[in-house]
Amino acid sequence: MSNFKEQLKQARISVDQNLQKWLPLPDNLSARVVEAMRYATIGGGKAFRAFLILTTAKMFDLPEANAINIATAMEMIHAYSLIHDDLPSMDNDTMRRGKPTVHIQFDEATAILAGDALLTNAFEVLADETTHPDPMIRTKLIKMLAYLAGKDGMVGGQMIDLIGEKQTLNLEQIEMLQGKKTGALLMFASTASAVATKAPEEQLNALKTYAKCIGLMFQITDDILDVVGDSATVGKTLGKDKDETKSTFVSVLGLEAARQKAEELGVQADDALSIFGEKAITLKEAAHFILERNY
Ligand code: IPE
Ligand code: IPE
Ligand code: MG
Ligand code: MG
Ligand code: MG
Repeated sequence: MSNFKEQLKQARISVDQNLQKWLPLPDNLSARVVEAMRYATIGGGKAFRAFLILTTAKMFDLPEANAINIATAMEMIHAYSLIHDDLPSMDNDTMRRGKPTVHIQFDEATAILAGDALLTNAFEVLADETTHPDPMIRTKLIKMLAYLAGKDGMVGGQMIDLIGEKQTLNLEQIEMLQGKKTGALLMFASTASAVATKAPEEQLNALKTYAKCIGLMFQITDDILDVVGDSATVGKTLGKDKDETKSTFVSVLGLEAARQKAEELGVQADDALSIFGEKAITLKEAAHFILERNY
């Protein structure tokens, strides 16, 4: 296994350990919602966003003890977004990460509640003293994640995504949609460690440019995998976007041009990192991973 994949796996393991701490199974009647939260988070998915936080933490000397909570809050929000994305009223999906989706495994009401609780408890994790000793930094992270996950970020993007099933969006609108629904959380993942260590403006801006590129790339490759991926490897039912007549880069540009667009963004992502020199090698590998991924 490449060193990159090994590091990605390590991020998954570290976050899982911390999730065990934050989501213990209670011995009371609300245990069912915690079971669903654990089912949706622990051991599932690439942990790519957590990996970005842990990698940038090393670049900016943010202690791992702080970074791991930020990464855990990030993965909780990401998992909530997937639970709700899979609901019958949204994408109506039955498989996620190679397992039945939460509303299939439990039931729809429990899935909604598990998503609600992951969203809420993520901010409990960020607000915790162990996340950062400086309350101003904690508040900054909370505000940033709230902004990027809410109406101006992921949720706003999901709204446009649903509108894009009923009307054909143009390239500019699709770019805005993808930037929000997927790019916003990757923006948090790419910049949180720099914000927590008060990195210089120039470095923060470089990471923001990188994040914008990989955010779009990540959704373009997701849309490509929906057409050409192997369902068992991706862990999701594929071919859904076409069935739902979704507006995506692939539906507007076609496969080849969408691939090329992702490659161009990969070059831009690399360029944005030049000010970090050797320090950014793992982030460059991460951008490359997005281009090449088959899951
Ligand atoms: C899936 O994200 C949803 C998108 C934003 C495209 P991931 O591909 O990161 O899903 P997991 O966490 O690895 O399952
Ligand atoms: C959803 O995009 C991304 C979220 C913000 C949850 P998709 O609907 O394409 O994600 P998948 O393909 O179901 O993972
Ligand atoms: Mg969706
Ligand atoms: Mg979906
Ligand atoms: Mg998809």
